[in-house]
Order: sequence, then C-alpha cells, then structure tokens
Amino acid sequence: MEYEIRKYGSLDEEQKKQAVELFMEGFGKMMTFAKDEELKKKLLFDIFDPSLFLCYTAEGKVLGLLGLADSKARPLNFAPEACKKHFGNFRGGIISKQMNAVFQKPVVKAADELYIDILVTGSAARRKGVGTALLQYAFGLEGYKSCLVHVFSNNRAAISLYEKNGFAVEKREKWSLMRFLGAGSGYPVRMRRTVG
Ligand SMILES: CC(C)(COP(=O)(O)OP(=O)(O)OC[C@H]1O[C@@H](n2cnc3c(N)ncnc32)[C@H](O)[C@@H]1OP(=O)(O)O)[C@@H](O)C(=O)NCCC(=O)NCCS
Repeated sequence: MEYEIRKYGSLDEEQKKQAVELFMEGFGKMMTFAKDEELKKKLLFDIFDPSLFLCYTAEGKVLGLLGLADSKARPLNFAPEACKKHFGNFRGGIISKQMNAVFQKPVVKAADELYIDILVTGSAARRKGVGTALLQYAFGLEGYKSCLVHVFSNNRAAISLYEKNGFAVEKREKWSLMRFLGAGSGYPVRMRRTVG
C-alpha cells in the first residue's frame, strides 16, 4: 500500500476529522469528561498538537494515528482557552485541569527519551503494517536514544506489536493509578527499546 506519514497540522479538515475518529476508536473510553460525543470531537480537533501527532495516510484517508511525547512536550494539551471555547468558562476550566492532570503529566525525564503516547490504527486497517510503519517512522527521528511506551497487560495486540518492533518489558506497574481510571484492562507495563 502506498502511504505517507504526515503531521496532523498538514492535513485538510476532513482528514483531521478522520484522525479524531480514530483517536476516539482507540482512546474514547478515557474521554470521560463529557457525554456529548460531537462536542468532545470538536475539542480534540482543535487541541491535537500539529506536529506531535503523526498520521498514516493512504489514498487520502487517515488509517493510523501516532502521538509522540518527550521530556519537553506531550501531544494532547487540553488548553484552558480551547476547553472554555467548547464547554464554557466554568466547565471548560475544570475539564482543562482534570484532563491535563493526566495528559500533560511528564512521562519521561531524559532529553533523549521518546515516548509513544497515543497509537491507534483503524479497525479495518489492522494487521496490515500500519502500526509498524508509524513506529518505524518514530524510531528514525533524530535526537533520541530510547523509546518507551506504557501498554496495558491485557492488550495482547499492542504488546505483540511492540515486541515485534524490538521493545522489551522494563517494568510491570501493578500499583499504578492508571489501573483505576478505566484506561484499559490489567495493569500498565512499561516497555523500552533503543533507537538512533
Ligand atoms: C495495537 C494496534 C495499534 C496494532 O496496529 P496494527 O496496524 O494492526 O499493527 P501491525 O499491522 O503493524 O502489526 C504488527 C504485528 O503486531 C502484532 N499484532 C498486531 N495486532 C495483533 C493482534 N490483534 N493479535 C496478535 N498480534 C497482533 C503481530 O505480530 C503483527 O504482525 P503480523 O500481522 O505479521 O502477525 C491496533 O490493534 C490498535 O489500534 N489497537 C487499539 C488501540 C491500542 O490498543 N493502542 C495501543 C496503545 S499502547
């Protein structure tokens, strides 16, 4: 399949909407801050970082989404202005604080560590190498010596994807708070591989 890996900021409006749909497919259950699905999507459309979200596109369609973090930035910032724009001053302010406590919490310390924050591929496009292509692209980025990810212990598909791409289990975080936030089933497993 002919494909391109493109930054979110370079997509047209329709493709950005597809990227948001994909995100909701993989991570929608963590977006507990509101019930109105359309409003949540509008907010996400606005707050995806234009260069930290990378999209796998083929024939103009977005089939995979990768959000990258490092010691300086994470790709999903529920900025107060954006949250207030969609949810009003009071509720928007609360949503911003509540979501950023999770999504803007630093995930790596060293400047040469790259972190896979978000990875999802469209259900109809799975087992076709889309996830692998996005990871391989990330491994080629300059300035990093290792790449880390957290994956839930019961997410067999993701664990085998990461193992196949050279990651090894570093730590089983059985007492992590994430376990109780309904983010996935099982407990978070930290995996790492060297890059560069
Ligand atoms: C995990 C996920 C990103 C994999 O994406 P993908 O595009 O299907 O991955 P690839 O096609 O590159 O798969 C590469 C390898 O990973 C492993 N793999 C992927 N999906 C698998 C599955 N459902 N069961 C077992 N192994 C799987 C296989 O070894 C596969 O190689 P193979 O197809 O030659 O056997 C995708 O299933 C997904 O989006 N899941 C929901 C969101 C999620 O859990 N994200 C990870 C959060 S950390």
